[in-house]
Amino acid sequence: MKGIVEYFRTKRPDLTLIPEQEELLKDLVNVEIQKVAESCGRGFSKTLCSALVALWFADEYSTEIGRPLEILLISHQQKIYDRIDEFFLKDKSLRPRLRVKGINYEIPREKFQFTDNLSIVTTCLATSKKVRGNRCDILIIDEAQDVPEHIYKVALGCLTGDICKVIIIGTPRPSETSKSSRNWFIEIVDCPDKYGYKLKQWSSSVCWWNAKALIEWKQIYNEEEWASEVDGVPSTKEQRMMFPRKHIDASIFDTECIREGGVGSTIEAGIDWGGVECKTCLTVIERLSPSKYKVLWSSGWKGAIEAYIDELVKILQNFKVDLIKADSRPPEFKGWLEKYGYKPFYIDGVYNKEQELSQLQKRIREHSLIIPECLVPLIKQLCVYKKGMRTGDFVDSLALAVYQPVTPLKKPREVIIIV
Ligand SMILES: Nc1ncnc2c1ncn2[C@@H]1O[C@H](COP(=O)(O)OP(=O)(O)OP(=O)(O)O)[C@@H](O)[C@H]1O
Ligand SMILES: [Mg+2]
Repeated sequence: MKGIVEYFRTKRPDLTLIPEQEELLKDLVNVEIQKVAESCGRGFSKTLCSALVALWFADEYSTEIGRPLEILLISHQQKIYDRIDEFFLKDKSLRPRLRVKGINYEIPREKFQFTDNLSIVTTCLATSKKVRGNRCDILIIDEAQDVPEHIYKVALGCLTGDICKVIIIGTPRPSETSKSSRNWFIEIVDCPDKYGYKLKQWSSSVCWWNAKALIEWKQIYNEEEWASEVDGVPSTKEQRMMFPRKHIDASIFDTECIREGGVGSTIEAGIDWGGVECKTCLTVIERLSPSKYKVLWSSGWKGAIEAYIDELVKILQNFKVDLIKADSRPPEFKGWLEKYGYKPFYIDGVYNKEQELSQLQKRIREHSLIIPECLVPLIKQLCVYKKGMRTGDFVDSLALAVYQPVTPLKKPREVIIIV
């Protein structure tokens, strides 16, 4: 029996495998491992390797063990047919062994069987109608991240016999169609032991054929996207950006930072007090309606409060702020705004921070926040903001400004401006 690497040489003499591909292929054909997950970067050759492994089991392995095997190969990409067809084109000894020959392609679409060992490879796209009704000894799922979970379950139900091998191979990118940033493939890559999988991860930065693409990818991917798209490593909850770029982009408008007014419009401010590393930040927003907000101001100060409090209060006065929500910590900042006649609501970040951020996240996701494009430092910080960040002061004060506690805050009755 030819090993998988040698087998590849006979089918694709035009390509030389790199050591990482050889190791991946050896894992895939090891029948001792029942469930294998391979998490690879884009263009690592997932589809090529899935196609090769299906063919190797149907051809070499089946002949070696002396019994027919059924291999079910599921992919979200049409390309899977082409990859198998290429093997038949390059190795002319394969086609005469087919029970039914292809018409437009070397192989018939969907299913081919060898006349000598009677093994069958069924290639199908990831729809439950196509997958259901199959029986297989070996199940291979290519581009697993794009295969819906219910189809993964239908596919697992197709397994039969004593080999019962499952191979899943994909790039751990959040699915484009689902609202959630998780999918079943990412869950398995995150906790392979929990699901009984043996996992390996492969970065496509080692593939020389991707050299040009890598230069392009460096420009377009942020750190988190690079990890999943290129390194095949899904981001953890902590690493994930709090506000997805596409939603931030949809919130940015070419508009002035001026009040729009109208019935029910109120001006609210959020103040996140500074510390050793952080600035004191002030955000002023206009609440246009219960579900529409516009950011009017965002700025920050470092140093002692005496040095900037006058300037901060002037901004509150200019915008005729109705309601101020200020962080209750550190406690020494309490009392300063009162000197100027303001009655801020103090909100304890220790208990409310999660809620403040999740409300802001919801408003950005629902595009109910208008951010004028001139507020560059705020926009920049939103793009890189992660949970637990210590220097996200602009974002923290924005979160306070839009925060609505369970009991709605009312505009304080007596606001006496002394200054
Ligand atoms: N050892 C190699 N030497 C040269 N080129 C290779 C080698 N292995 C794979 N390739 C090339 O890499 C390309 C990517 O293959 P394939 O489509 O299987 O990758 P993929 O990981 O499925 O990509 P995608 O992420 O786009 O689905 C193919 O065009 C193939 O020719
Ligand atoms: Mg592919």
